[in-house]
Amino acid sequence: MEIKKVGVAGCGLMGHGIAQVSAEAGYEVVVTELNQENLDKGIAKIEKQLGRAVEKGKLEQSEADAIRGRINPTLHPHEFAECDLVIEAITEDLEMKLDFWKQVDEVAKPEAFFATNTSSLPVINQAAATSRPDRFLGLHFFNPVQRMPLLEVIQSVTTSPEAMAVGMAYGEKLNKTTVETRDKAGFIVNRLLVPYMLDGIRGLEEGIGSIEEIDTAMKAGAGHPMGPLALSDFVGLDTLASIGNVMFDEFRERRFAAPPTLRKLVAAGFYGVKSGRGFYDYSGEKPVPVNPGL
Ligand SMILES: NC(=O)c1ccc[n+]([C@@H]2O[C@H](COP(=O)([O-])OP(=O)(O)OC[C@H]3O[C@@H](n4cnc5c(N)ncnc54)[C@H](O)[C@@H]3O)[C@@H](O)[C@H]2O)c1
Repeated sequence: MEIKKVGVAGCGLMGHGIAQVSAEAGYEVVVTELNQENLDKGIAKIEKQLGRAVEKGKLEQSEADAIRGRINPTLHPHEFAECDLVIEAITEDLEMKLDFWKQVDEVAKPEAFFATNTSSLPVINQAAATSRPDRFLGLHFFNPVQRMPLLEVIQSVTTSPEAMAVGMAYGEKLNKTTVETRDKAGFIVNRLLVPYMLDGIRGLEEGIGSIEEIDTAMKAGAGHPMGPLALSDFVGLDTLASIGNVMFDEFRERRFAAPPTLRKLVAAGFYGVKSGRGFYDYSGEKPVPVNPGL
């Protein structure tokens, strides 16, 4: 089945990016939010990015207008009725996601495919709550969606080969690097990256180096663009802790457990870049390492 119209639920950090790259690939897009303020914020981010691309000469004004014209922002999920593929990028909360799919399942056409962008929840829990578990898959984008090339295409125990083919074709049309994976907590990237970041924090606790030394060593010695502690701040310490908790519940292995320093920073509201402080203080021109008081 050819996908022409894509529905995106949530216009936050991930949703606005998914809506934008889908429209850039030529799809008609319906994007929804819980309230007008969040919807306006997400659409403003898309318009800003398109404007910047025009300024830099990467896009003609007419192309930017056409991309924006393909995006239909709305507060009414019943506008998903005509979509061939609906992707949810709403808050990482299973109850909220199940409520959302209940509403959409009633209005979407029976042949439409559904996908979740969840980072840590099992895809099957959402798939099984709809009338079409065979047409339900995971499409896991990376932040920022416009820049990161990877799309993990996730097969749950019920996902049909046809649904996987639709997910792969959609990713290829977006010009993403598509990788098929299975419905195991963390999929591929987080399965490897989360224990690495948590180990960076444990290394700090054990005194192998300071924040700056650990990050500098991994950049200069392993060729990583960011060290593990700066990367943790970028991902969000709250997000990192919650993905770690889900993976620990699933696998019961220490390497996935959030170390005490991470728990304390989260409890203090120090979430990293987004809150202005984590392992670094972001209030000045350059991030400055802050010893978490070990
Ligand atoms: N942040 C990341 O790096 C990242 C990466 C990959 C996947 N994800 C996943 O993407 C999803 C969204 O994460 P985010 O970081 O964009 O969160 P976010 O908080 O920035 O955005 C979520 C948005 O969903 C909206 N929303 C909630 N319920 C809704 C509903 N029923 N209908 C429409 N909109 C609704 C909220 O108002 C909010 O604006 C989560 O499942 C998360 O695990 C996040």
